[in-house]
Amino acid sequence: MNRGEELEKLKKEMLADKKLPLKTNLVFGEGNAGAEILFIGEAPGAEEDKQKRPFVGRSGQLLRRMIRENGLKEEDVYITNIVKRRPPENRDPLPEEIEKYKPYLAKQIAMINPKIIVPLGRFSMNYFLPEAKITRDQGKLFRAEESGYYVVPMFHPAAALRGTTALNAFKEGFKNLPKIIKKIDEIKLSLGNKKENGGKLAKDFIQSNKVNQGKLF
Ligand code: URA
Repeated sequence: MNRGEELEKLKKEMLADKKLPLKTNLVFGEGNAGAEILFIGEAPGAEEDKQKRPFVGRSGQLLRRMIRENGLKEEDVYITNIVKRRPPENRDPLPEEIEKYKPYLAKQIAMINPKIIVPLGRFSMNYFLPEAKITRDQGKLFRAEESGYYVVPMFHPAAALRGTTALNAFKEGFKNLPKIIKKIDEIKLSLGNKKENGGKLAKDFIQSNKVNQGKLF
């Protein structure tokens, strides 16, 4: 089975799982099954529920514009949410809803196996980095402790739409993505060659880019 088929199978499993909370449409996610960049939001809103597609409302338009304006193609990335059904009245997802949907997100991530994960907003950020604070840590590169994934949290695009500071940080984060990806490649390469070098390279990067030291290596 290729990755696309595996994802399709997982989607069917989710549709059949009657224990999952929330009864609106399943918004599984979309994009390239072998994407280098995986964006993860909170939960679908009204428009996403209607179209069964992630990030197609107002904040989605901003996200998709940023993707296109920074040399990426929507078809090359993968976009999904931590909770895959719309909470009533667009309220925040509840901790127990996140808990129930988490195992499916974990499987989805493992199938895609992206080079970098961009959680959008604090809910999906805290899935990888329980201690992180979105205003303090957005735009920084982390290595998630358990899974080892490289993670750059960003503001949720809805927050970027509400204020200039968040919008500027959101735009800046996108501009930096290619540089961060290049750095991950270098770190991986030197880690593969020689453990010590990788450590030094990562340390240089930490110092020059204010990456949170505790979490990266
Ligand atoms: N907000 C999210 O977190 N996800 C969506 O898919 C849409 C809006």
